[in-house]
Order: sequence, then C-alpha cells, then structure tokens
Amino acid sequence: MDEKRDLARELARQHYSQGDPLGWFEDLYNQANRDFETIPWADRAVNPHLAAWCDRESLPRPGARVLVVGCGLGDDAEYLAARGAHVTAFDLSETAIGWCRERFPESTVDYQVANLLDFTGRYDLVVEIYTLQAMPLDMRARAIDAVAELSNELVIICRGRDESDPPGQLPWPLTPADIHQLESKGLAIVRFEDFDDPFDPGKRRFRVHLRR
Ligand SMILES: C[S@@+](CC[C@H](N)C(=O)[O-])C[C@H]1O[C@@H](n2cnc3c(N)ncnc32)[C@H](O)[C@@H]1O
Repeated sequence: MDEKRDLARELARQHYSQGDPLGWFEDLYNQANRDFETIPWADRAVNPHLAAWCDRESLPRPGARVLVVGCGLGDDAEYLAARGAHVTAFDLSETAIGWCRERFPESTVDYQVANLLDFTGRYDLVVEIYTLQAMPLDMRARAIDAVAELSNELVIICRGRDESDPPGQLPWPLTPADIHQLESKGLAIVRFEDFDDPFDPGKRRFRVHLRR
C-alpha cells in the first residue's frame, strides 16, 4: 500500500510543479494500465462505511436520484444502483470512467467524465468519498461549495483531523471547519461521526450526514 501511495504522491508532486495539480489522477489511472494494484483506493468493493450507513439509514430510497462525486472505479456507484437508486457518477479521469464502463458493461449507472468544480445539478443524495481530501488544499473551499450546491442530502466519508493538527501529506484530512462550511450553503448536519477506522486502524475518519 505504501508503494502505491508513493507512486501517487510522486505523480502528484510532478503535476503540482507543472501547475496542473489535478492532472496526476489521469496520469495514475493511465499508468495503471488496468492493473488494480497500482491504484491505492481500488478495493474492488463498496466502501464498508458507505454500506453500513445505507443499511442503518435505509438510504438511498429506491428511485432516488443519487450522485457519486469522484467515483473512481465505480464500486460505490454500482452498490447504490443495486439498491434501486438512479445513479449518476462522475470522475475527472477519462481513463477511470472508461475502466468503469468496461468493468460494468450492464450497468444502469450514468458514468460521466467531469470536474466537480464545473458540475451542476441538484440530487436527492450526493455521496462524496475520499475526493475532497485528495484535491489541493487551495481548491478545498471551492470544492466544498460545489459539493454543497449539488446536494439535497449528502454523505461524506473522509480522513479527519482537528484544526490544530498539521495537514500532513496527501491525502489531506478534512477538519470540522471544512464540514461546517457546508452549513453556510444551506445544509444542516444530521450526524457527525468521528472514529478510528476498524478496517484500517490508526486512521481517523469522519462520516457526516447532512440535509438541506
Ligand atoms: C482518492 S480517489 C477516491 C475514489 C473513490 N471515491 C473511492 O473511494 O474509491 C479520488 C477520485 O476523485 C477523482 N477526482 C479528483 N478531483 C476531482 C475533481 N475535481 N472532479 C472529479 N473527480 C475528481 C480522482 O480522479 C479519483 O478517482
């Protein structure tokens, strides 16, 4: 896992120095050449914190319009579609979206290549997992506002830290202030969970449910 993260961080460093801080995602997927082992977040399974949340909250409702932001290789989107939601899922990386379509040829998910900062619409439920934390810190405020604008209801699953903790290296954990920024866009926190990840001990996670 550390080697995978090292490659991702090295590509990110190169793209940052070229003034193209989001370009490393496409580069990484492209270099992976369909090898899941190269992608640090390619678990080939639904995120367990999402699945547990869906079970507990009985969400999304069948027929709900759901948006998956930064969908990566599509496992979360497919899971939500299998629960009966109408799912749109987008990612900045054309290669990632091509890979999703190849993996799930019978899928009902509407996969799109798009940048969160340009995406528009309003969805019953938006699912954001590990994307905000992977975007550059100087884009974070804009990215959080963009997620809020898309959401009637929102679940965020991310790394967490206190405001007083240093951001460390990529991925940069979100802070409570990042989450509270969503409230200024008309969303209210339904539940804010802050826990040590039982599947990845030592990693602090936030799982936050918000509603307009
Ligand atoms: C750390 S990965 C997480 C992927 C997936 N959500 C998961 O949990 O497996 C972040 C994903 O967000 C995508 N991404 C990063 N910035 C984005 C942006 N501005 N708009 C859309 N997708 C973006 C990347 O290409 C990558 O697939």
